[in-house]
Amino acid sequence: MTAEAWRQRRVEILGALQSEVYGPMPADAPAMVVQRRMISAVDAGGIEGVEQIEIEVAGRARFNLVLVLPRRETPAPVIVMQNFCGNQAAFPGRPAAIDAPLLYYPFPCRYGVFDPFHRAVFGEWMLGPPFRSLAERGYAVAMFYGGDVVPDHPPDAQPALSSLDAEGAIAAWAWVHARVIDVLEADQRLDQDRIIAWGQSRFGKVALLAGATDPRIDAVLAFQSGRGGDALTSHRSGESVSAITRGYPHWFSRRFSAYATSPPPVDQHDLLALIAPRPLLLAHTRRDSWADPGGAYRAAAGARPVFDLLGASAPRFVVRDGVHGITDEDWRVTFAFLDEHLLR
Ligand code: GCU
Repeated sequence: MTAEAWRQRRVEILGALQSEVYGPMPADAPAMVVQRRMISAVDAGGIEGVEQIEIEVAGRARFNLVLVLPRRETPAPVIVMQNFCGNQAAFPGRPAAIDAPLLYYPFPCRYGVFDPFHRAVFGEWMLGPPFRSLAERGYAVAMFYGGDVVPDHPPDAQPALSSLDAEGAIAAWAWVHARVIDVLEADQRLDQDRIIAWGQSRFGKVALLAGATDPRIDAVLAFQSGRGGDALTSHRSGESVSAITRGYPHWFSRRFSAYATSPPPVDQHDLLALIAPRPLLLAHTRRDSWADPGGAYRAAAGARPVFDLLGASAPRFVVRDGVHGITDEDWRVTFAFLDEHLLR
């Protein structure tokens, strides 16, 4: 295949992924900043400032973005990411100056008493990233809670999805990444050539789709993204298509459940290929067989010809010891990968 033929093929693959796996992406619409609030109560190490930015998309969505800026002279690379329990819970001590979720607030996330439990089971950085280390290394973080736009709960998700003309929350949250970037693009404190999509698990699936659909994203890092993320749907191991579409029917296209028994016409190596030639890291853990690391390894290999064709390094595949979650090691791997690929 030539690079020109690939550009054509790319459009077809994206169309097939939307119809068979994720459902349509909501239409692009301008994101407007409604309000910007400086948060002074939050401070740590090399952090210059924390802002809460209320964003509205023409009557279709409203959400809060938290922007954590490092102290530096030149524009900062920025990591765009979601969190599991809301913006407030992503900061130690849940500062009152940061707003609680706007639309959907799952029970165990509401109470700080559960925070140590989340961290003990899923790792130190499960609720939010190590802001201080990020700032010390010169990275900004732009973080949002997807439940502000589409609740991560089947019955509650439906009205939100309908108002976006979406079928699946993964596509809707990937669209929110793009709206976040609309706002970041106007910010001169940020380096527009170093916008990074970072996600773990369900949000790893989202980061991959965001990278595949938005050319403004310069690198993608997905941790344990598994089924519907970096693992081949046709690799029958770990979480099955029927398990994921039964447990999380609101994440996908209505057609995806059909591939529980028949091979899909488009598979996740195709999704990964859409990210080429940009740097792509896929990370797994040894004891998280649910996320199907073997299927992810095969998808990375399947995507490689496109990275080769475009003269880029192959997707990086790493595995650590341990279970599903986000640990110090995951952030060490993040920094090493980004330093290698973006700070050259
Ligand atoms: C469940 C789900 C996975 C998902 C994970 C997560 O385990 O089955 O597909 O990746 O939640 O988001 O933590």
